[in-house]
Amino acid sequence: MDRRAFLVALPAIAVALGPRLHAAPFQDVEFIRAWERAQRLRPRSLTSRTRIAPPSEPGTPLIVTGRLYDRDGRSPAPGITVFAYQTDAQGHYDVPANGPHSWRLKGWALTDADGGFEFTSIRPAPYPRRTEPAHIHLYIEGPRLQRRSAGILFDDDPLVTREERATSTNAGDFGSVLAVRTHEGVQRVSYKLRITDEGVF
Ligand SMILES: [Fe+2]
Repeated sequence: MDRRAFLVALPAIAVALGPRLHAAPFQDVEFIRAWERAQRLRPRSLTSRTRIAPPSEPGTPLIVTGRLYDRDGRSPAPGITVFAYQTDAQGHYDVPANGPHSWRLKGWALTDADGGFEFTSIRPAPYPRRTEPAHIHLYIEGPRLQRRSAGILFDDDPLVTREERATSTNAGDFGSVLAVRTHEGVQRVSYKLRITDEGVF
């Protein structure tokens, strides 16, 4: 079967990353349905360290270490669910038979007492024949916290624009274009994010 990515009505990635990847998913009925479908697969019990891609997934191993802070940017935010999804090493979210907005590679973490979480995965590829950089979508939600979107880009990706890099740099510790460190074939990025009023859906 010819595998094609579903590229319509891309859901929001961090607002700070600019308009290229930002859409309004709350207006997208198909996105909301897909979201609800995906969440039905959420494990009953979550841990701070988990996987997005299964161990059998082809691609360069990637470990995303994250820490979530409260609005003040200093206090850790424990007990928050972090939902992540991404494309595979070919830039596809899924196969067409699974419908629009189907995310094969996805995972859920629960931030620990320090706001920490970690996803083991593979490096996502950009959408085929498109100009959006490779990325991982993240959504955070928890008690008394409306769902928020975020997302990460990779600093070694030539599709990341100068503007996106500048936005990330200006965000200081909370930038979304992450430095990629490679050791023995495993890529690692670390991401600090804080709860904001942006990216809500
Ligand atoms: Fe995407």
